[in-house]
Formats: sequence, C-alpha cells, structure tokens
Amino acid sequence: MEKTINVAVIGCGSIANCAHIPNYLKLPNVRITYFCDIIPERADKAVEEYGCGTAVYDYKTLLGRDDIDVVSVCTHNDMHAPISIDFMRDGKDVLCEKPAARTLAEAEEMQKVAHETGRLLSIGVVNRFCDTVNHVKRLIEEGALGEVYQTYVSFRAHRSIPGLGGDFTTKAVSGGGVLIDWGVHYLDLTLYCLGDPKPLTCSGIAHCKLGKDMKNYVTTGMWAADTSDVENGTYDVDDFVTGLIRTDAAPITFNGAWAQNIKPRECFVDFIGTKAGIRMYYGEKFRMFSTCNGMLTDIVPDYASTGFDYFEELRSFVESVRTRKPNQAYIDKAIVTSAIMDAIYRSSETGKEVTLEIT
Ligand SMILES: NC(=O)c1ccc[n+]([C@@H]2O[C@H](COP(=O)([O-])OP(=O)(O)OC[C@H]3O[C@@H](n4cnc5c(N)ncnc54)[C@H](O)[C@@H]3O)[C@@H](O)[C@H]2O)c1
Repeated sequence: MEKTINVAVIGCGSIANCAHIPNYLKLPNVRITYFCDIIPERADKAVEEYGCGTAVYDYKTLLGRDDIDVVSVCTHNDMHAPISIDFMRDGKDVLCEKPAARTLAEAEEMQKVAHETGRLLSIGVVNRFCDTVNHVKRLIEEGALGEVYQTYVSFRAHRSIPGLGGDFTTKAVSGGGVLIDWGVHYLDLTLYCLGDPKPLTCSGIAHCKLGKDMKNYVTTGMWAADTSDVENGTYDVDDFVTGLIRTDAAPITFNGAWAQNIKPRECFVDFIGTKAGIRMYYGEKFRMFSTCNGMLTDIVPDYASTGFDYFEELRSFVESVRTRKPNQAYIDKAIVTSAIMDAIYRSSETGKEVTLEIT
C-alpha cells in the first residue's frame, strides 16, 4: 500500500485555492494536514471549505512536526525563500510557487539548501506540464520545424497591472513587475521547448511608466484588486520590458507589458524554424506554418487541451517525492530563469549587455 503523503499549504490565497488545494485533494493517498495563513480567516475558511486539516497562522509552529511530508509555498514572493528554506532544513520536500524568489541570490540560497539537505524543491512553472507546451516541445525535438533559429516571446496586455500599489507592484515584496510575474512563465516555457539551452548573454530594458502615476492610471478592471492601495501604496516595478537573450541554441527576443497604450492583448511564443514555424498561444493551443507541394500551409491541430494543467504539476511533484527523483520543475532547471531575469534587470540598470555564467 502506497504511503500517504501529508501536505501543509502555506498561504491560502488565490493560487492555493485555484490550483494547489483542489488538485492535492484529487490525488490518491495524499491528504492536507495543515492550512496556514497570516490572515486567520483564510486558514479557517480552508479547513471549513475542504473539510480537512488544521488551521494555523504562523508557519514556524509547523516546524518539527512529523505529520507533514511536503509543503506548498503559496505566499507572495518575499516569503518564498525563507519558508522553503526553513521547511527543507526541517526535512520536508517543497513545491514553491513561481518565481522561485525575488532575486537570484535568494533562489541560489534555496538551491544550495536543497542540495545540502537532499530535499526536493520544485518551482511552480506549470507550463512545463501543459499539453500544448509538450506538443510543441516534441515537434521541435523531432525536427518538424527544421533548425529553430529564432524565438519571439510576447506577453503584452492593454491594462493588466495586478493590485496597483499592493504587493505585486512593491519591489521589496515582489522583486519586480511584469518580467518577474509574467516573464518568468514565458521564458521558462521557451527554454523548456528549446531543450533547456544554456543562456549566454542578456540585454534588456525595463520601464516603469503607466503604473507609476497610480492616481491617473485608467483601467476598467484590475486583477488582485483586493490587494490594491492607490492612496498609500508603492509602485516601483517594471510594467514594460524588452530584451534579447543569446543562448547556445536559438536566441530569445521578447516584449512584455502589464499595461501599454496598445490593444489587443498579445500573449504568445513564436518558434521560427527553417522548415516550419509555430505560434503557441499562451495557455491555449498552437498553429504551425509551413509549405507543402508549392503551397503555404497553416495547420490548426485539433486536440482537447487541458490548458494550465495544475493537476499534472501537482501529480508530477508528488510522484517525484515518492520516487525521490527531481521532476521538470526542479530548482536546478527553474533557477535558470531567475538568472536570466536578474541579468535583464542588471542590463537595464547599466545600459550594457550582461554575460551569464551558468555552469
Ligand atoms: N503558477 C501560477 O500561474 C501563479 C498564478 C498566480 C499566482 N502565482 C504565485 O503565487 C504566489 C501567491 O499569489 P496569489 O495570487 O495566490 O496571492 P494571494 O495574495 O491571493 O495569496 C497569498 C496568501 O499568502 C498569505 N501569506 C503572506 N505571508 C504569509 C506567511 N508568512 N505565512 C502564511 N501565509 C502568508 C497571504 O495572507 C495571502 O492569503 C505568488 O508568488 C504568485 O507569483 C502563481
């Protein structure tokens, strides 16, 4: 009989409730023993709603407990490193939400502790578990695109700054804006599809333009509006970013915007090869363009996509815990994006290209 895996969920906000908790509950021989949030009502509500576990309000009270095997860290970015490190040192495996941390230095410390303790530390790079992304990865691997010599990544929205003035737009909490919040997913999935190539140099420019003047920011709706504080909050992160990453495979060029004076939303990744090209629509499906018998082709594959497959992400993490084998989201893979984002921010500050030294 398979051993039951006991889970503690730290942070009972949006991602915990829409992705981690419901999917742990779908997995056989997995149970949630603790819900923790510094807002007591959120932990209490989770116990009531899911009918399991105990509510706690300070994660440190869970250290040393033997009825926890794994921990999901679903707090804001500033607490990813301290909570993950404390639990790994306590002998627990950790699934930490993306980005790994606010800075590369914090992510490196997490990686070091994972190596020292032998604990499994996966990061919430859900795209690595999505069917569309894996279809595209396989097509590239099988040579259907020929030589992939260029990728272009677009994560641009008209008005999508989350929680203006709150945690998302305060660098001390988030570590950055659109690059670290959205770019982390797009850059990670692009690297994954390309077979995790080694990044060599980065050149980038990150702006803080439309959100900076919070009182005059015009929008019709706001994601994470409950965390917004336009009167007394902070906006010191990027809402636009552009750059070029040279790798030992195809280069990656990108534009990202939480907000821009251009509509419509353009969220996709282009993989451009000598035989064919693919436009992958983020979280959706893809189209493949090529030629055949002197004709241009535009292939729209037909399959029932599972979209953002959080179930597969959680299933894979639990399987890696059972088998003691790192999965596709292991920190050693996910940290590459932290190194790239750090280099892009440094390049933007200095106005110079940054050379990466990833071993
Ligand atoms: N994988 C994805 O697609 C995805 C999507 C959304 C958010 N996220 C990530 O998930 C994280 C959380 O985002 P969210 O939208 O769920 O935020 P949220 O504000 O809805 O939830 C965060 C929760 O953590 C709690 N918290 C803060 N500090 C804590 C602490 N020390 N101990 C216990 N609880 C604490 C807060 O009270 C809050 O309830 C962020 O890092 C974000 O980048 C990932």
